[in-house]
Amino acid sequence: MELKNKRLLQTETFIDNKFSKSTDKSAFEVTNPANGKVICTVANATEKDTYRAISAANKAFINWSTTSVLERSKLLRRWYELIVENKEDLAFILTTEQGKPLGEALGEINYAASFVEWFAEECKRTYGETIPSSNNAKRLKTIKQPIGVVAAITPWNFPTAMITRKVAPAIAAGCTVVLKPAEDTPLSALALAKLALEAGIPKGVLNILPTTNYKEIGEILTTHPDIAKVSFTGSTAVGRLLMRQSATTLKKLSLELGGNAPCIIFDDAEMDNAVKGAMATKYRNAGQTCVCANRILVQKSIYSKFMKKYAEAVEALKVGDGTKKNITIGPLINQEAIDKVNNLLKDATEKGAKILLGGGKHKAGKLFFQPTIITHCSSKMQLSKEEIFGPVSSIFIFETEEEAIEMANDTEYGLAAYFFSTNINRIIRVSEQLQYGIIGINDGIISTAEAPFGGIKQSGFGKEGSFYGIEEYQITKYICTGNL
Ligand code: SIN
Repeated sequence: MELKNKRLLQTETFIDNKFSKSTDKSAFEVTNPANGKVICTVANATEKDTYRAISAANKAFINWSTTSVLERSKLLRRWYELIVENKEDLAFILTTEQGKPLGEALGEINYAASFVEWFAEECKRTYGETIPSSNNAKRLKTIKQPIGVVAAITPWNFPTAMITRKVAPAIAAGCTVVLKPAEDTPLSALALAKLALEAGIPKGVLNILPTTNYKEIGEILTTHPDIAKVSFTGSTAVGRLLMRQSATTLKKLSLELGGNAPCIIFDDAEMDNAVKGAMATKYRNAGQTCVCANRILVQKSIYSKFMKKYAEAVEALKVGDGTKKNITIGPLINQEAIDKVNNLLKDATEKGAKILLGGGKHKAGKLFFQPTIITHCSSKMQLSKEEIFGPVSSIFIFETEEEAIEMANDTEYGLAAYFFSTNINRIIRVSEQLQYGIIGINDGIISTAEAPFGGIKQSGFGKEGSFYGIEEYQITKYICTGNL
């Protein structure tokens, strides 16, 4: 791998500020989804390594939880600066192991860094309260304290940003962390660890376990009595399992789970902006985000006009190896992802949907899928119920606003929803009636460090980013001083 800063390519577990082989010396291969080539092998953390990491984090918590907020802030700020200084290399590592085009990878590194910067500031402002007492002889107050050792389990689709979105607020709050990154993308996580080390984050505060033993290690992280909090981003099925496992020791949980985002195009939408916004939410990361538009609902009266412009924009996408110039769609992460998209398209076409564009594998390679538009979709089809996680726009038609809202809410998920309209009354009505944790109005890109990201219903609970993000890693302690 061609890197300016070669130190960023780390391939071993990171425990107590040391990179080391796994206890049984086993390793696993990390491959480039664009060409199937092995990038390198990475130490495969074991159960023993997990216990070591928890013990290191637990020991480090004693000091870290009592460092001043200024000290934590300075160290996080230094980590942020190092991420920004190394952003080109970090983006290259990300694209090589995950596949997204370099421009998008660079965007993710900036996005990831912004969480570190945000929480470096936010930790100075986690205020408690003074509560007026009903009894004159008492004084009541609350203080915020770090919850303890945090287990973070992160996905492959944003291998850098989903880490900083959890780790930065945890460390800022005074917690220590044991992180299990996705096995497809451990290199981005380990590069972040190297920079945290160089930033001076003390030993045991951040520990990273690259592994393919995710079931065993996931079970330890969710049942170990020394872990106080689990933060997970991934599927609803795995979220439910982790929640069940965490119940035995009553851990605090943040679960950022699956989505099924509707994107509604009303007849009063500004057409070019609607096309641009729908494209951005649908085809970002080749359709592999939890907040991707999974269903595009178009009002009948503007259907032909919208579809003509939308199809032109989709046809202009450039599929290929993300490290090459001008590429806008990279590969999917693995063969299961390709199989899933194929199966959803098969089910939909058997139930009456029509392929307008694409519909199959792309000639760029084994894991590339053609940017696809499928029309005449209905609620009978599987793609209306589950995340497509691929570059496929499924188009549904509606006639009235009430129908659009009913269709949009007809899902067990509730992460993000989008709509395009220039009618202010409709904007207020619809944003209040959509049953989602995040609403994008006339905009396809809603994620940012200063706003709360998180879902409702079967998309989970807990907020990431914003001032809410740090509270997830704190307890509120009530202190009563009496007999004054
Ligand atoms: C996700 O897909 O889980 C995160 C997407 C984002 O932060 O925008």
